[in-house]
Amino acid sequence: PRYFALIPAAGVGARMAADGPKQYIDIGGKPMLRHTIDAFLSSALISHTYVVVSAHDGQIDAVVPPGAVTVLRCGGASRLASVQNALRALAGELGEFDWVLVHDAARPGLNAALIAKLIDAVGNDAVGGLLALPVVDTVKRASMAAGANVPAATSSVARDGLWLAQTPQMFRYRLLCDALAAATDASVITDDASAIEAMGFAPRLVEGHPRNLKVTLPADIRIAEMYLAAP
Ligand code: C5P
Repeated sequence: PRYFALIPAAGVGARMAADGPKQYIDIGGKPMLRHTIDAFLSSALISHTYVVVSAHDGQIDAVVPPGAVTVLRCGGASRLASVQNALRALAGELGEFDWVLVHDAARPGLNAALIAKLIDAVGNDAVGGLLALPVVDTVKRASMAAGANVPAATSSVARDGLWLAQTPQMFRYRLLCDALAAATDASVITDDASAIEAMGFAPRLVEGHPRNLKVTLPADIRIAEMYLAAP
């Protein structure tokens, strides 16, 4: 089978309070997205890497290594739309049973070992799967009472069997297209696996690593830098 990487990088990074889109923030001397791309380029298992950016993106050409990856300028209003548009654009290049590893640009700590671990564990599966981490904290359900300044816990959710989804999330091209086409609410379908689950399939969970964190808040940049400096 062939394995392709698809990196949605069309977000605006609203929570980062940075000047530009967060995928271009400097992490240890390289734009975040370049670290993410390099993880796939360093894996011998990946046939080709595609990056999805918005049509107005003016920075991407300075970031991608020439010839090594394909840039698709068809980003949408949500991650879901960006991935869907990209998959549509690849209809002529990918076969029904080719694997697609969808990976957030905002997870620059991915490396070849994690990619290999996921492919080894899931490459023979009928459905596919994703990197994820078991929840280690106690999880609270909370609600905000009228007039309160902070939310209050109403119960604790047993953390047994709870996982935090990371990416890559790998599924076969046709199944992923069908699942995303059936997804309508981008606020509920926040990753690829949730669209697959909504079809009634059960994606496998493969233990990831904290280095594969999603850079979301300014402090995450320092954590990512630390992991990338000590591979
Ligand atoms: O915003 P968040 O960190 O959840 O975004 C996850 C990934 O989805 C990022 O790599 C971001 O660039 C991408 N994205 C996208 N198109 C959007 C929104 C987010 O490709 N419209």
